[in-house]
Amino acid sequence: MMIKNLLVTGGCGFIGSNFIRYLFQQPDFHGRIINVDKLTYAGNIFNLTDVASHYRDRYVFVHGDICDFEQMKEVIEREDIDCICHFAAESHVDRSIKGPAAFIQTNIIGTFNLLELVREKRDFSLFHHVSTDEVYGSLGSDGLFREESPYRPSSPYAASKAASDHLVRAYYKTYGLPITISNCSNNYGPYQFPEKLIPLMIWHGWQGKPLPVYGDGKNVRDWLYVEDHCAAIWTIMKQGRRGETYNVGGCQEMENIAVVRMICDLLDELLPPLKTGKRRNLITFVPDRPGHDRRYAIDATKLMEELGWRPKENFVSGLRKTVQWYVQNEKWIQSVTSGAYRNWVSTHYGMI
Ligand code: NAD
Ligand code: DAU
Repeated sequence: MMIKNLLVTGGCGFIGSNFIRYLFQQPDFHGRIINVDKLTYAGNIFNLTDVASHYRDRYVFVHGDICDFEQMKEVIEREDIDCICHFAAESHVDRSIKGPAAFIQTNIIGTFNLLELVREKRDFSLFHHVSTDEVYGSLGSDGLFREESPYRPSSPYAASKAASDHLVRAYYKTYGLPITISNCSNNYGPYQFPEKLIPLMIWHGWQGKPLPVYGDGKNVRDWLYVEDHCAAIWTIMKQGRRGETYNVGGCQEMENIAVVRMICDLLDELLPPLKTGKRRNLITFVPDRPGHDRRYAIDATKLMEELGWRPKENFVSGLRKTVQWYVQNEKWIQSVTSGAYRNWVSTHYGMI
């Protein structure tokens, strides 16, 4: 697959920034990357400082909003975009419960804008939509999500991603737009904003703050190290059949409480002890998330058998690497949680 000008949306976020760094390291990618990001609270331009200086001729950052049709039109024409990898989204379930409006705008309207803009574009090779296993709803104690599983989203976030998946698929069926979709399980790794379970527990445990576990802590997630997700996306973009969906997951199911205990133990090992004792003592059960899905688990057979993708990391090795990364990057976590970075963004870019 020869990509000249790849538009990555949301490339300053957690997975997007890992993906851009990953892609520049791939010997079979020779194109340019145009990263459009609104720099919401979750987007950090400094996640890619190394990339921006190392790949000056092949990397462009655009402070932009995918909901702004005219701005996206101008970028797509000016940069002669021939492929899109679409990450930009509001991504946190708890925020979608408190305020769904931004999720409807970015995840549905933003995706629709991009699809409209490339619908009739000549020499356009692929629209890849990065989506989630949450579109399938919740599993009981057994079974796995397959590509044919019915869509039963529980949260406004999941419903907005389901809507965008449907739109992407409709543009393939109706207009013949070349698309692929990946529905992935929970990611973890470097540069994840400390509101999601793993980085939040690392940051709170580090500071000796309470570790809020929702409900009985027995909800199950299927964890995938972010670089394995990036490799899956690139594999699907290159080899995936157009119009198809691929589930992505690492067969690493864990109860939340087990994840939190593992993080406590790693922090006790890697950081000075707390005066209050072992970090497991900080675990605090709090009221459950409304509509909380009980269990996610992915069947990734299609991706493995058809395209030969395999995850490299298991949860034990990946979690250790992740906790080590946060412990070694205190400045990053301080800046994204303190408001200093937000002030910098509004001074340099203003708000959109
Ligand atoms: P994130 O919240 O870390 O990053 C989202 C990025 O999108 C940020 O940089 C943000 O500034 C940008 N953005 C938000 N609204 C925008 C807009 N209107 N215009 C332009 N940019 C905008 O999210 P993430 O965890 O990296 O997730 C990336 C994608 O992967 C999302 O589509 C998400 O649904 C999907 N996904 C995430 C996971 C996971 O576990 N994190 C798993 C499966 C799928
Ligand atoms: O499955 C893929 C999805 O994974 C992605 O599409 C989402 O963008 C991503 O945020 C993630 O959604 P979850 O809701 O599963 O992730 P979160 O980290 O918010 O929560 C993981 C589990 O931990 C979930 O069962 C809720 C629980 N939890 C979460 C937080 C933030 C707690 O018990 N305490 C917490 O403080």
